[in-house]
Amino acid sequence: TPIPSPDLKTCGRATISDGPLVPYTCCPPPMPTNFDTIPYYKFPPMTKFRIRSPAHAVDEEYIAKYNLAISRMKDLDKTEPLNPLGFKQQANIHCAYCNGAYIIGGKELQVHNSWLFFPFHRWYLYFYERILGKLIDDPTFALPYWNWDHPKGMRLPPMFDREGTSIYDERRNQQVRNGTVLDLGSFGDEVETTQLQLMSNNLTLMYRQMVTNAPCPLLFFGAPYVLGNNVEAPGTIENIPHIPVHIWTGTVRGSTFPNGDTSYGEDMGNFYSAGLDPVFYCHHGNVDRMWNEWKAIGGKRRDLSEKDWLNSEFFFYDENKKPYRVKVRDCLDTKKMGYDYAPMPTPWRNFKP
Ligand code: C2O
Repeated sequence: TPIPSPDLKTCGRATISDGPLVPYTCCPPPMPTNFDTIPYYKFPPMTKFRIRSPAHAVDEEYIAKYNLAISRMKDLDKTEPLNPLGFKQQANIHCAYCNGAYIIGGKELQVHNSWLFFPFHRWYLYFYERILGKLIDDPTFALPYWNWDHPKGMRLPPMFDREGTSIYDERRNQQVRNGTVLDLGSFGDEVETTQLQLMSNNLTLMYRQMVTNAPCPLLFFGAPYVLGNNVEAPGTIENIPHIPVHIWTGTVRGSTFPNGDTSYGEDMGNFYSAGLDPVFYCHHGNVDRMWNEWKAIGGKRRDLSEKDWLNSEFFFYDENKKPYRVKVRDCLDTKKMGYDYAPMPTPWRNFKP
């Protein structure tokens, strides 16, 4: 049986990964309608197409627009804390789906470490992007993607490193600033190498995760997750580089914040807080792009055909504050969803070890 959409009525307290209870509720605001009557989402007539660009290459005009959209989202937190389109409410979606706020089939819902990983985050970004566009009245607005699979994108995209802007996050590890090259394979340990060596290691790693280790759908998407049975094994890309990028960007777990609080990896390094860093959605843009790139390699690299996957459901608020259920089967083609990725070369394809 596929995983049904969680029911808001059963939403409870969430727990910080490897920590105490989340000190606030991650549950979405009350719904205007009964959960059982929430309609299935239908794609609005596609008048405007959105193209997501590599974050390191966008111009100042885009950066200004993006910052404006995020700051409007953050303003909603103050003026209407229960508006589902607010910045914190949107971040809480991740917390609710990943930190045990819902019990489904007798177990805590956890969309990670399973085949729900790619479709959940695709739908999440889909609505997030439309909300940002709505807030600045631009139906073509598209999220940027953190192009970490290309040498030019293997550092925090510079626009996120401007203190005082709305896409800056103080709860990042300071090591990510000033153009430090990122190690896509590291779960926290640092290795002494040159920038050039690191970049070439990263490309080899991308080849391994996209080509060698993911010749068939289950290895790429992750282990089946059906009602009452969750094996908890991530797909190749979810494991590496997706997790290392989170760990690298968040503060070091166990370190102390200026106010004396202990860090649980905030923001990017813990499920409950990851969505509080705007770069999260940029990171996941590229994760989502890898899904398309993987299928483009060919061979047996296709979407899963299991009904339990295709019929799994989530729910989200759209840009008009209306709640909808969505199915995995409806998110397999980004063009049908109204967006695509501006192409970038994929040099890792030639990095066969
Ligand atoms: Cu839902 Cu990158 O984690």
